[in-house]
Amino acid sequence: MEKKFNFKRFRRLRYHPLVRDMVRETELSKNDLIYPLFVVPGENVKNPVKSMPGVFQLSIDKLVEECKEVRDLGIPAVILFGIPEHKDPEGTEAYDPHGIIQRAIQAIKKEVNDLLIITDVCLCEYTSHGHCGILSGDEILNDETIAVLAKEAVSHVEAGADMVAPSDMMDGRVFAIRKALDYKGYVNVPIMSYAAKYSSGFYGPFRDAAESTPAFGDRRSHQMDIGNINEALREVEADIEECADIVMVKPAGPYLDVIRKVKDKFGMHTAAYQVSGEFSMIKAAGQNDWIDEERVMIESLTSIKRAGADMILTYFAKDAAKWIDRNSK
Ligand code: PBG
Repeated sequence: MEKKFNFKRFRRLRYHPLVRDMVRETELSKNDLIYPLFVVPGENVKNPVKSMPGVFQLSIDKLVEECKEVRDLGIPAVILFGIPEHKDPEGTEAYDPHGIIQRAIQAIKKEVNDLLIITDVCLCEYTSHGHCGILSGDEILNDETIAVLAKEAVSHVEAGADMVAPSDMMDGRVFAIRKALDYKGYVNVPIMSYAAKYSSGFYGPFRDAAESTPAFGDRRSHQMDIGNINEALREVEADIEECADIVMVKPAGPYLDVIRKVKDKFGMHTAAYQVSGEFSMIKAAGQNDWIDEERVMIESLTSIKRAGADMILTYFAKDAAKWIDRNSK
């Protein structure tokens, strides 16, 4: 009998919306979301960040209210960035037990249950020069800096942080932080390391929000070159050896290939940071009616998950959670 060629009809599964729902391979869930928040000194402060519509710098009282809302939306975690009152060349407020972030953590822990607090561990928000570490002339000193980062991480955890996330890109900092935490008995506090963090133009709006623009130079001496992917795998491998529990790729959308390779090669819990510039571009185009903001938001987040991310740090977390509520059964 003659075998007839039958072309494949992919469209069969695309006609009925319920069938489309059944065969969808990747779907966003609230458990994927981590919401970044910026805390500033003062009371009753809610400063809009001009380059990030819908994002605010919040004083501790307002931050606590915001955290309740985030928790009520079913988002499991926030990541906190502190903007201190006083900056100095060594970034000492980063590990001050009464520093902005330490007080913020305590206030949230007192009033909000069922919300994980992750803290960003870096010095750039705390140093007067805006660099991520201790300087000697124009050079950021690696080993001196990781000692301070370890102190910073311990002080966040002493204040009540559930997880720490070093974002500085110094070498050996995950090991230094792990050792310091373990020494204090915090053996069960996980480290989410910004493992493959690129020197990216997409961080522009964040530096307004965190007031952390370097006073001179840039971050190319420690963040990764945009063209490299093998090196990203070595960075991730090193952080895993140093006992990182979760590894992160950052930015997310422009680096989907890196997320996929990291996930495939290591099978680690992998996070991706949809950074400020990715967010602001979608917002700006949406506000101009050039794109459908909500649709593109969900598409960008789903793509990051499809690339292999298990969790996504995103300024869209609240909007995405609301969308999930409206669109899930
Ligand atoms: C450093 C840090 C940065 C971001 C997160 N942690 C900025 C930088 O490296 O310059 C960027 C996040 C974003 O753009 O949303 N503390």
